Amino acid sequence: IGNDIHYFETVDSTNDVAKKMGIRAEEGTIVVAEVQENGRGRKGDPWISPKGGIWLSVILKPSILPAHAPRLTLMAGVAVANAMRQFGVDASIKWPNDVVIGKKKICGILTEMDAEADHIGFVVIGIGINANVPVEELPEELREGSMSLSSIKGERINRAEFVQALLKSLETEYLRFKVDGSTKILEDWISLSNTIGRQVDVITPHKIISGKATGINPDGALIVENDEGVHEVIAGRCIYK
Ligand code: BTN
Repeated sequence: IGNDIHYFETVDSTNDVAKKMGIRAEEGTIVVAEVQENGRGRKGDPWISPKGGIWLSVILKPSILPAHAPRLTLMAGVAVANAMRQFGVDASIKWPNDVVIGKKKICGILTEMDAEADHIGFVVIGIGINANVPVEELPEELREGSMSLSSIKGERINRAEFVQALLKSLETEYLRFKVDGSTKILEDWISLSNTIGRQVDVITPHKIISGKATGINPDGALIVENDEGVHEVIAGRCIYK
């Protein structure tokens, strides 16, 4: 991962650039930009991407079923959290797949793919990290729930060194995924997560499920237990009580 790195000053979205290159690109190709003018988050939300952050996308070509692609998002969360821990930052994973410091989000992951029914052409994993982005410079509505590497460390980090550690960590996890499947990744995800074992409210489009988060399934669905039984929640917003 990272043999071929395409660097840009400004793009709309590294995921969009990566998707255009996808079919022809070598597996492991990276697209990275200083600034994204139209960075995208999950659920069509914008992703604020000023200078100082790390905005990158990785192109992968795994031989897996499209239905199993969410496992790669879990893998990326594990890789990011591990890279941050190597940098002395106490990162955890908050379901569905935010890397957080406590409750504050420091990294978001957006996985997109080009696939037919039973075959993946390529997957783009977009990783956005608030690196040297002072939290007080984020839009007001994001400040409360966000963290950055420089704000938590009290000094700017060396982004090149961090990206190098991150790509190595991604490669380790991806090789493991290809050899062993997702079992080890799920174990690592659970031990890095600060959601499992907690009382949570999960807000889904239809209802709010309150209970104890007890695990995730291989597709990344959160398992929540309460008096009514065991629920597997595939998508939603998780609030810690
Ligand atoms: C989220 O938590 O909502 C996901 C955020 C993903 C942001 C990254 S930054 C690099 C890549 N390019 C994008 O436009 N989005 C992802």
